Amino acid sequence: MDIIKGIKGVKDILPDETPRWRFIEDTARRWALCYGYQEIRIPIFELTALFARSIGAATDIVEKEMYTFPDRDGTSLTLRPEGTAGTVRAFIEHNRAADPLPQKYFYIGPMFRHERPQAGRLRQFHQFGVESFGTADPRVDVEAIALLWRLLSDLGLPDLTLEINSLGNSGDRAAYKPILLAFLAQHEASLCANCRRRMTTNPLRVLDCKIPECRTATESAPKLTDHLAPEARAHFDQVLAGLQAIGVPYLLNPRLVRGLDYYCLTSFEITSTHLGAQNAVGAGGRYDGLVETLGGPSVPAIGFAVGLERVSLMLPETASSSLNECLYYVAAFGEEGTKLGLVLLDELRRIGLSAQCDYRAATLKAHLRQADRSKCRYAILLGDDEAGRGSVILRNLESKAQEELPLIGLATLLKSRTIPS
Ligand code: HAM
Repeated sequence: MDIIKGIKGVKDILPDETPRWRFIEDTARRWALCYGYQEIRIPIFELTALFARSIGAATDIVEKEMYTFPDRDGTSLTLRPEGTAGTVRAFIEHNRAADPLPQKYFYIGPMFRHERPQAGRLRQFHQFGVESFGTADPRVDVEAIALLWRLLSDLGLPDLTLEINSLGNSGDRAAYKPILLAFLAQHEASLCANCRRRMTTNPLRVLDCKIPECRTATESAPKLTDHLAPEARAHFDQVLAGLQAIGVPYLLNPRLVRGLDYYCLTSFEITSTHLGAQNAVGAGGRYDGLVETLGGPSVPAIGFAVGLERVSLMLPETASSSLNECLYYVAAFGEEGTKLGLVLLDELRRIGLSAQCDYRAATLKAHLRQADRSKCRYAILLGDDEAGRGSVILRNLESKAQEELPLIGLATLLKSRTIPS
């Protein structure tokens, strides 16, 4: 019979890989809490209108990447392509702005985008994201960027570059657009079809196109950062000075535009040369107008999200290698040994020591083979001879050293020897 396979671009994360994932998620949680962010859990699907209104109707995400479907009553629903829109919706819906600001949230979970799958680009992928509401001060931008940088550095990811740009306020962009369009019009023939279309829908995105011909054509394009009003300029300068003060290195990238429409002022991306074409590990920016756009009060905000598949691809092998380790393999055999082994396994687990056994194995030899395969650190040998003496043999599976220990009180004794991790 035909087997039913998983969906293209949607991956299983098998037990070999979950220790890496747990390690990444735990590290992200620890850093978020350390910076005063609290966890929020938002739904996997929302009304389609939420994403269209926040991310922007003319963006790639909304135009062609969303998983949208009618509910049974015809309401259009969408699997979340990112976490900012849902977090802002929850912030507004629960009237969180009535509580003292600032408020800082983080989330971890799956997102869905119908993109062409390749290494580091999936249709179901996972993000760790943070959103900080209520502070317009540039030091919050510094704080958010610092959290992203410290987290990725702590994970040991190689060759990271923080790229940063300012998208100004809406007035700055409105004043800059005709200047950019005049430049693009002169180079239109060299632009790809998508960029020619973007000239009418979202000209700033032309600067972000990855196609080499477009990049060459826009090499000398006027920079938005050269056309910022004093307020936005001062904000950007203070962000850069703050990053310098805390030793977070950055690279100015006037092409950094981002594919979501809600951004203003500071926008940033951390890339790595280890990732190939999909080189952004994490990205974000300020979105001071979004809460209002979605029907809430005027609340400034900033955030970022990290692509966890990309982190996992880059994570050094050693970082999480011992996380799946089980401590004890209980090799219980013979009539009495088997009976006592069942009780011992239960005692070990109840006291918090990881233990396993292959119930199919009936002989010492079979057990030792399974113990080696299990990657446990120790085997506890308990046959009828040991049972008769009221003891067990504790065998170090790496050094093969053995010692005889009393069966009574064994779990407590082993627990007292365990170094807390
Ligand atoms: P984004 O740049 O669309 O921003 O996504 C953030 C990160 O998610 C990317 O840098 C990348 O690592 C990862 N990512 C995106 N798409 C995929 C994919 N198809 N497969 C694997 N990884 C992917 C946002 O989503 C914003 N909500 C970030 C933000 C939060 N801005 C403010 N607050």
